Amino acid sequence: MSKDGARITPYRDGPLLVRGDFEMVDQDGAAIETGRKTIALCRCGRSRIKPFCDGTHKATGFRAGSGPAGSGPA
Ligand code: FES
Repeated sequence: MSKDGARITPYRDGPLLVRGDFEMVDQDGAAIETGRKTIALCRCGRSRIKPFCDGTHKATGFRAGSGPAGSGPA
């Protein structure tokens, strides 16, 4: 993990996990309180609590690799 920074991990077939020292804000710069050191951000588009993951990706069969698209097998 980078010093004083965050680590973002795209989980295979799941959310983006954000760990470490981060700040989350809306597009107007207003703070979004997470109250956590680790959060999961939806990348399937189906969560009912966006921008956070609520686990819906499992029921919908969302598929995505852990690396950049086209970088290898998922
Ligand atoms: S990635 Fe989990 S609900 Fe979208």
